[in-house]
Amino acid sequence: MRLRDDCGLARFNANWLSRRELFLRSSPFRWATGHIITPALRSAFQTFLPVEEFLSDLQRLARKALPDPSWIPRILRTSQVHTARRSASHAPPSLPELWAMLPPQLAGRVSFTPDQFTQLLCAFADPPQFGTDLARYPDQAAQLRRHVVDRGAATDIAVLDLGCGTGQGTRETAFLFAECGVRNPRAVGITAEPIEVWMATHRRLPHRPEREVALRALPPQSDVYFVCGDALAPPLCDTFDIVLCNGLVGGRFLQKRPAFHTLLTQCRSLLAPNGVLALANSFHDGALVHLQLFATVAKENSWTVEGTPRDLWLQPAIR
Ligand SMILES: C[S@@+](CC[C@H](N)C(=O)[O-])C[C@H]1O[C@@H](n2cnc3c(N)ncnc32)[C@H](O)[C@@H]1O
Repeated sequence: MRLRDDCGLARFNANWLSRRELFLRSSPFRWATGHIITPALRSAFQTFLPVEEFLSDLQRLARKALPDPSWIPRILRTSQVHTARRSASHAPPSLPELWAMLPPQLAGRVSFTPDQFTQLLCAFADPPQFGTDLARYPDQAAQLRRHVVDRGAATDIAVLDLGCGTGQGTRETAFLFAECGVRNPRAVGITAEPIEVWMATHRRLPHRPEREVALRALPPQSDVYFVCGDALAPPLCDTFDIVLCNGLVGGRFLQKRPAFHTLLTQCRSLLAPNGVLALANSFHDGALVHLQLFATVAKENSWTVEGTPRDLWLQPAIR
């Protein structure tokens, strides 16, 4: 991803550094990881360094720097920046709370070098709390391995990974199939953020260098593609033997019965005969109620449901 040089970063830096200077004259605050944000501190930050304005300014930079406005990460898109105070949007209520969402090398900063700005945009698209990484769902991987062996490794396999993020799980699954002896494993990952698609495609994680090293060490498979799209309306007309949907259902992105219904309908039409929908997650226990609801909705719609809410294995009734 090559950001345009003339996006106005120098002006942004000068403005926010001088505002921070004013703030520091009134408050001895120094950012540290784990800092407790009291209401008084939040209010002081909002007076001098309002997070909505910070995000709006970053959005203007991103609009100029990125190849297309559609690449602007969700947290910077206008509607959410403007509704930050009023709704439980993705925008945090103050700058320190935004910093707390960022990798350590970016937290506490109001100015950025061009490389740091690239990292920041990547971190907005793939914040650390997504936790996307290799080897995240070992039980699911073991089950996929058994499944491939049972159905005969000699046959080709196509997998679709809905909500693939930066693509570690997609690539790992293609590699797992190859290890099992599948001749032509094909994998397609779909995710919401164009910058995630760029990272997944190029195996780049500028904001998480240690994870990038691990991702690049994974033996590459030839038939792996990433697409930007909505899991509830995937831009595909192929069918797949396996659909993965990890870390999406039950989390903040997908919690409601109508969305579950739509997802299941989509998956039914995307699955080849005898296809499987596998869902894993590492959400906190608060998500269990949503995950249980998802399993209920699947059963109501004639899916066979096996496993635990954290590791589901579903098949639609034979058509
Ligand atoms: C918590 S991450 C999980 C990533 C990966 N599947 C994993 O389990 O490690 C959720 C991902 O879903 C993507 N996402 C959210 N809503 C989506 C949607 N409606 N369609 C496709 N992807 C979505 C986010 O951009 C994010 O990358």
